Amino acid sequence: MTDELTASGVIRKLMPWETALLCEHFLRLDPEARNCRFAAGVSDDTITGYADTALGPDALVHGFLVDGVLRGAAELRLLDDNAAEVAVTVEDAWRLTGVGTALFGRLLLTARNRGVRSLAMTCLPANRGMQRLAARFDGKITYASGDVFADVSAQPANPLSLWREAWRDGSSVAATVLDAQLNLLKRARKRSAELGGQDSR
Ligand SMILES: CC(C)(COP(=O)(O)OP(=O)(O)OC[C@H]1O[C@@H](n2cnc3c(N)ncnc32)[C@H](O)[C@@H]1OP(=O)(O)O)[C@@H](O)C(=O)NCCC(=O)NCCS
Repeated sequence: MTDELTASGVIRKLMPWETALLCEHFLRLDPEARNCRFAAGVSDDTITGYADTALGPDALVHGFLVDGVLRGAAELRLLDDNAAEVAVTVEDAWRLTGVGTALFGRLLLTARNRGVRSLAMTCLPANRGMQRLAARFDGKITYASGDVFADVSAQPANPLSLWREAWRDGSSVAATVLDAQLNLLKRARKRSAELGGQDSR
């Protein structure tokens, strides 16, 4: 599957020390998305506690960043028996622009290269978005105990899949550096426009 991302931003793996970025993203989710990702009525403290451990050694998280702010995340948690749990969250203003699909594609490639064969995610029956997203990756959707389970199987790793991950990691680093430079330029331009405005008064 090719990326059909139309939103502009950078997709890259989050580093273990980037907990704050992830936590702020989770806390910005609207109540419905928070309900879909965590459960009804989950408090800010619970989310913060979860985010503190979400970038641990058993996890790999891909993020979608816009101007250095995390707007989407795809979490992969490795389990025993070549299986993993996944969850995807995209903030409201960036939905339906392919971010979820692009994040999931990266996650699937990473899982494949780590020997994962089956990725499972749980979502609410009314969550059409997540079900559509899983279906794009040939996900098998099953229904039990009021929940919907989507199971996506990954191909075994091969030299091309390993190369694709390494290439994407490399381009993400380049894109991140470029993004940071553009932001600095934007800030410098804004600052000089503000100073120019002050001088002409
Ligand atoms: C589910 C979610 C990750 C989708 O992210 P997204 O960036 O909008 O996804 P995409 O733009 O890549 O769209 C993927 C597919 O889902 C469809 N879709 C997305 N949201 C939809 C919705 N609310 N209703 C119906 N279809 C939807 C898109 O049309 C697209 O379908 P297509 O294959 O026919 O083109 C996002 O809506 C979200 O974060 N929801 C809240 C958290 C959540 O429910 N997470 C899942 C549980 S872990």
